[in-house]
Amino acid sequence: MTTIRPVIRGTGHYLPARIVPNAEFAAQLETSDEWIVSRSGIERRHFAAEGEFTSDLATHAARAALANAGMDAGQIDAVIVATSTPDYTFPAVATQVQAGLGITSGFAFDIQAVCAGFVFALANASGLIAAGQARRVLVIGAETFSRILDWSDRGTCVLFGDGAGAVVLEGLPGTGQSDDRGVLACDLNSDGQYRELLYVDGGVSRNGQAGVLRMQGREVFRHAVEKLAATAQTVLDRAGLQASDVDWLVPHQANLRIIRGTAQKMGLPMEKVVVTVQDHGNTSAASIPLALSVANTEGRLRPGDLVLTEAIGGGLSWGAVLLRW
Ligand code: UT7
Repeated sequence: MTTIRPVIRGTGHYLPARIVPNAEFAAQLETSDEWIVSRSGIERRHFAAEGEFTSDLATHAARAALANAGMDAGQIDAVIVATSTPDYTFPAVATQVQAGLGITSGFAFDIQAVCAGFVFALANASGLIAAGQARRVLVIGAETFSRILDWSDRGTCVLFGDGAGAVVLEGLPGTGQSDDRGVLACDLNSDGQYRELLYVDGGVSRNGQAGVLRMQGREVFRHAVEKLAATAQTVLDRAGLQASDVDWLVPHQANLRIIRGTAQKMGLPMEKVVVTVQDHGNTSAASIPLALSVANTEGRLRPGDLVLTEAIGGGLSWGAVLLRW
């Protein structure tokens, strides 16, 4: 049976120039490099400069992805940006990226599923391609979490960073079998009863303010490993594949202990896991496309490799996408 498979044709990323090592926090807060590294695996993160916004990061990453795909912006039918830190309440960051790239046709919109945003965006883009609504889609994760951190809360401000990653997704003919290139299976989940475990205490409707991030870290951690391993198994089952078939696990980069725990639960050795959390911190929706782009740049992802991405974040929302490179 012939089918249309959304295939990743190119990747790109952008990180703001300013690198902030753990030591900068230790100079101002009751924390230490040792605590941050041992509890999270984070060694440094990038923070956007004054006047540098989520749409700027997203546009840089999109340009890099187009160059990597060998495509022009004019070939793109849709732009989807996953973000929880848009420049403005509206319009969508995606329309700013569209304008930045000189695209004046097709459509553009944002998706807000916090740290699971890129997985949600990839699944939605795949659905649009499968439905014939678009052929080539720029899927971007971009964040400036430095703008919503409480600098006096050592339990959260040391964990997050700014950045953007992008992929160009193109619908190509496949056989419908699991050895096709492209997206093979998606799984999306949300459970709003846990919405207070990780949230921002402001908003246009609530108080007209941007607010800052609040997190019950230990509780989120407790949900993470269990839910991530379950969603990973779901996409493998849907594609008729097994964890032992996976060449690369590209997880959301929130905490090295969560990444290790999930890999262990799936029976995957760490050699098969892409880890960038040490250099980027938690960049929320940007973390997976950033990790994909870094791994691709390093030549680690080979055509035919089975790649599993998974993420969990505020909502709680979580999910996974299984694809063949
Ligand atoms: O991306 C969205 C999803 N988010 C996540 O996946 C994050 C999930 N959670 C985590 O990654 C971890 O829970 C944290 C890294 C946030 C915290 O690690 P933990 O091992 O769960 O530590 P904890 O929250 O249980 O705190 C242990 C201790 C506490 O002190 P007491 O109560 O034991 O005296 C904290 O007050 O560490 C203290 N602490 C710190 N100490 C030094 C909290 N933050 C810091 C800090 N420096 N920055």
